[in-house]
Amino acid sequence: MSSASAQIQAFHEPVTGTISYVVYDHSGGHAAIIDPVLDYDPKAGRTSTRNADQLIAFLHAQQLRLEWILETHAHADHLSAAAYLKQQCGGTVAIGEHIRQVQAIFSGIFHFESGFEADGSQFDHLFRDGETFQIGTLSAQALFVPGHTPADMAYLVGDAVFVGDTLFMPDLGTARCDFPGGNAATLYQSAQRLLSLPDSTRLFMCHDYPPASRKVQWETTVAEQRAANIHIRQGISQDEFVALREARDRTLDMPNLLLPSVQINIRAGEMPPAEADGHRYLRIPLNRL
Ligand SMILES: [Fe+2]
Repeated sequence: MSSASAQIQAFHEPVTGTISYVVYDHSGGHAAIIDPVLDYDPKAGRTSTRNADQLIAFLHAQQLRLEWILETHAHADHLSAAAYLKQQCGGTVAIGEHIRQVQAIFSGIFHFESGFEADGSQFDHLFRDGETFQIGTLSAQALFVPGHTPADMAYLVGDAVFVGDTLFMPDLGTARCDFPGGNAATLYQSAQRLLSLPDSTRLFMCHDYPPASRKVQWETTVAEQRAANIHIRQGISQDEFVALREARDRTLDMPNLLLPSVQINIRAGEMPPAEADGHRYLRIPLNRL
């Protein structure tokens, strides 16, 4: 796939270690935002839009029209600002078509209202594997890369891939595979797909949780990952990876914001419907996870 060179601006959100991206063709052109964060204070149950407003300020400064709001997956560590961005700027909110499976699992766990359909209709567009699309003059492609969840997508734009939660920076390895519907062997296969791209392909992470010895980073290459990824570099077999990944996942706590995040994110970033008193509530299912 050839494409004019994508312009990429990263925004690091330090509380959840998430990196959101604005990908655009040129100043005055068209943009996609990937994995925007809605700030959430769990102690107060209060949301705010400080991070999303930085993305909007960038769009305005570059005179960009927001064409796409892309989610790599239903995140379990942060709330999505997709609905807010759409309300402020327009754009098509999109995720992978297998989100239906994640919605079916979690709408049950959260005992959502009877009107909630686990059919992906909360999103404006559901990508199939390999589907191509345009960001202004840029050609892009959605790649199905499940394993961390059953529905992950990566987005290929020119020589850049936004990998979501598949690979992390080489010294951190890979994303966990122990959420409902996750699978380490599946993630291995998805990682091989990404690592079969040309060596010079630039890979942009969704998260970084750096050790004290280095600063936050989010960009690497296929060649660097194949040479140095601690979980999945060239030469590590699927069986070795699965054993390592599953052993590590057994030691991990649930993410701090899993419960609030998932119930917003499978609604495409919309809040739950207001209850009889006019207020909106998140749910905490007891002894389910
Ligand atoms: Fe994730």
